[in-house]
Amino acid sequence: MVNQMKVNTVNVNGIDVAYVRRGAGKPLVLIHGFPLEHTLWNETASLLVNDFDLILPDLRGFGESATVESPYGMSDMADDLAGLLDHLEIEKTSIAGHSMGGYVALAFAQKFQQRISGLGLVSSQAAADAPEGRAKRYQTAQDVGEKGVGVVADAMTAKLSADAGVQAFVRRMMERQKPSAVIGALKAMAERDDSTPLLSTFELPLVLLHGDADALIPVGRARDIKSILPTARLVELHGAGHLPMIEFPQKTAEALKLLK
Ligand code: MLT
Repeated sequence: MVNQMKVNTVNVNGIDVAYVRRGAGKPLVLIHGFPLEHTLWNETASLLVNDFDLILPDLRGFGESATVESPYGMSDMADDLAGLLDHLEIEKTSIAGHSMGGYVALAFAQKFQQRISGLGLVSSQAAADAPEGRAKRYQTAQDVGEKGVGVVADAMTAKLSADAGVQAFVRRMMERQKPSAVIGALKAMAERDDSTPLLSTFELPLVLLHGDADALIPVGRARDIKSILPTARLVELHGAGHLPMIEFPQKTAEALKLLK
């Protein structure tokens, strides 16, 4: 069993991509959301090491991964993941992504469907941004360029969780991210495709995990997906906000085990 928290780095697509690999079993990639890093999953990952061979990447620019000049898109981040899986000699895997990590997982499913055995969307959504949401992302990207990542931490913290301890923990994580990564990800999210057509004909296992108190992406977005793909497993966590893997690690781990 590989069960180390050690961060490894591999050069894929010309970028040093950091990742942790722990546990044993069927491969499962856990992708962090915005503007965060793989350590987001630490507590939940500890509950999954006997069930899965876990791969926890830092998306380009975040955590210990190197930054890349923007613009780039979700599809480029999916390519980074494919390169990482090639390096690890993993041909097929389940992938679960949190929020923006879900957008990357969807881009991966769009591009490399033959390489996945199941998909998990945690506090995420399939739809693309509406025009006003897209414009807001570009404004935020400009603000981050001028004032730093604190702009995003200020805007997001209270919406992530009602729990003050969780807020403080995640705020520290946001504040240590690099402005260039935050700007690049904002632009990538603004330009992401609508994944509704992909999911409406999706034939692999799909697990939707969503807090019913999510103030950032309402639980209705997960219900929308369930309504277009009734075979999806929807797990609604009562009282959870946008960060179920920190707020309710045990229940999050149980839901992800549906991908076994
Ligand atoms: C995230 O939590 O990854 C982002 O807030 C998602 C988004 O802004 O669409």
